Amino acid sequence: MRRYARITGTGSCLPPRRLTNADMTALLAARDVETSDEWIVARTGIRARHFVADGVFASDLALQACQAALEAAGVAASDIDLIIVATSTPDMVFPSTAAILQNKLGIAGCPVFDVQAVCSGFVYALTVADSMIQTGAASKALVVGAEVFSRLLDFNDRTTCVLFGDGAGAVVVEASDQPGILATDIHADGKHVGILCVPGHVSGGQILGDPLLKMDGQAVFKLAVGVLEETARAVLAKAGKTEADIDWLIPHQANIRIMQSTARKLKLSMDKVVVTVDEHGNTSAASIPLALDHAVRAGQVKKGDTLMLEGVGGGFTWGAVLVDF
Ligand code: UT7
Repeated sequence: MRRYARITGTGSCLPPRRLTNADMTALLAARDVETSDEWIVARTGIRARHFVADGVFASDLALQACQAALEAAGVAASDIDLIIVATSTPDMVFPSTAAILQNKLGIAGCPVFDVQAVCSGFVYALTVADSMIQTGAASKALVVGAEVFSRLLDFNDRTTCVLFGDGAGAVVVEASDQPGILATDIHADGKHVGILCVPGHVSGGQILGDPLLKMDGQAVFKLAVGVLEETARAVLAKAGKTEADIDWLIPHQANIRIMQSTARKLKLSMDKVVVTVDEHGNTSAASIPLALDHAVRAGQVKKGDTLMLEGVGGGFTWGAVLVDF
């Protein structure tokens, strides 16, 4: 009998500080940088985002998301035998945020590691967990996306700072004889490193380069709409399914226009697309599990639904996971 990896619980966490577009407009105006609610809504669909307080790290948001996911799955933290955290904003240079999270969960012994694939991180992490569960290397995994992108933002650059937010989402993934994750599809093309990056590093006790986010938005946009269609079709083909089988598309939440374009190409009505970008902004690796958890708790996504999760981001990386929920 085939051994599947099945999502059995979801959880998420948003820091309490919520900034509307009006708040961002005021924050930027204090630096003589002009933006407006009208521009942000029209070009991105974003109306608000959440930012962490000083002293709060990705592992803190991850912990709350994991506790909610464990409770939803009815699984004790002590039964977890794998933790993968997708993040580009780790608590420290090392050790991994997954190790810090493991300690905060009060468990020890199981393998833990971070995955760095920027906004595709959760899709990558779920793909790795799926493989490890199918091979028997793990039976009960926590797969997490957790980010504090507010720490990377240049508030003098209106083309990027209005887009991102902080948050975390987590799923419990368990071995099962029932599907499960039906297929996965991940890719990268490193020649596009420069179009979305934080070009800084630590050396000799100093930060060298520039530790703030840089993005060529139009280049990312163009690449994103192409690869998201490709990976969606690839993962459907691997699972022997078609667009008509998709109950919910849960895409990376970067820009409503990218989501509309993907939906159009897959001939899906926007009623079948989970949208949280309006309230969360772009939370990078956290956006897909955050959107999934919100849709589950809102009663939209139900047991037995077929879900298409898909991400795209820095690297350039992209990929999709087809799930029988
Ligand atoms: O998470 C990883 C994936 N990331 C993405 O998917 C992001 C992909 N890119 C995008 O979502 C869009 O390219 C952006 C939202 C970043 C930008 O939207 P756009 O429609 O591509 O705008 P643009 O860069 O072409 O800029 C249009 C105008 C420019 O003014 P001019 O040169 O036409 O006078 C910008 O200076 O909008 C201006 N602009 C702004 N105006 C007010 C750029 N940012 C702002 C702003 N407020 N915040």
